[in-house]
Amino acid sequence: MKDNLVLRVNNLSKEFTNNNETNEVIKDLSLSVEENTFTCILGPSGCGKTTLLRCIAGFEDYAGEIFVDDVLCKEPGIDRIMVFQDFNQLFPWKTVIGNIKFALKKNGVTDASEQEKIAKEMLEKTHLSGFEDYYPHQLSGGMKQRVAIAKALALKPRIILMDEPFAALDAMTRTELQNEVLKIFEENNITFIFITHNIQEAIMLGDRIIVLGLGGEVLIDEENHIQKPVTPASNGYGDLWKKLHDSLYLAKR
Ligand SMILES: Nc1ncnc2c1ncn2[C@@H]1O[C@H](COP(=O)(O)OP(=O)(O)O)[C@@H](O)[C@H]1O
Ligand SMILES: [Mg+2]
Repeated sequence: MKDNLVLRVNNLSKEFTNNNETNEVIKDLSLSVEENTFTCILGPSGCGKTTLLRCIAGFEDYAGEIFVDDVLCKEPGIDRIMVFQDFNQLFPWKTVIGNIKFALKKNGVTDASEQEKIAKEMLEKTHLSGFEDYYPHQLSGGMKQRVAIAKALALKPRIILMDEPFAALDAMTRTELQNEVLKIFEENNITFIFITHNIQEAIMLGDRIIVLGLGGEVLIDEENHIQKPVTPASNGYGDLWKKLHDSLYLAKR
């Protein structure tokens, strides 16, 4: 076994019961993730991607084991921070810097000058310097997502969990943010687990791409060696795209 694993999911199963009907969304899923890697998880709608991430984040009960480092995750913790798809992850009545300082305060950084220092550093990392005193409604969707990432980084998690964070953005903003996330990944020692249903996004971002099928099973788990920055003209892009595309459409049937 590799000794630099940050996440180990062992025999994870998750079912939901509604109106006496049980839906087993994830069945006996095992996977592990090495630290400082970027893993993209692709899968058709409803295959359990969000559910998997919510189990890792500690928002759901589950059967099996999920370890971050050697700690069993049964509750949310600041070692795993989730960045969501929607833009309502910021308090509208707090400024950009106020949102980050609040997250720090809630997580044990009580010294005001320390909060200010860390928040400014994170805003610099996410290229938001100069927007400290803006309110969320004064920012574009892409900027709000960057504040959410800055807030996550401020808490120095081991893993950042992203659930289709750019799905609601226009194509250009999306490409810009993908590049920024890659830069943040390269500049910080951090592990990303990034969910998407967009094949191009997975190839552009992931060092490793996992495709889940409709039963929550792993259909593909493979390293992506295409040199970054990836474009559709990159060597190997077409073959990988086709492989992922075919497995996704097979999964959908
Ligand atoms: N809280 C819940 N209660 C009942 N069923 C749920 C709940 N959350 C998710 N599900 C069901 O689990 C399945 C997987 O959902 P989800 O993880 O959101 O899929 P994905 O993110 O891959 O689109 C779906 O069939 C969904 O209806
Ligand atoms: Mg989802």
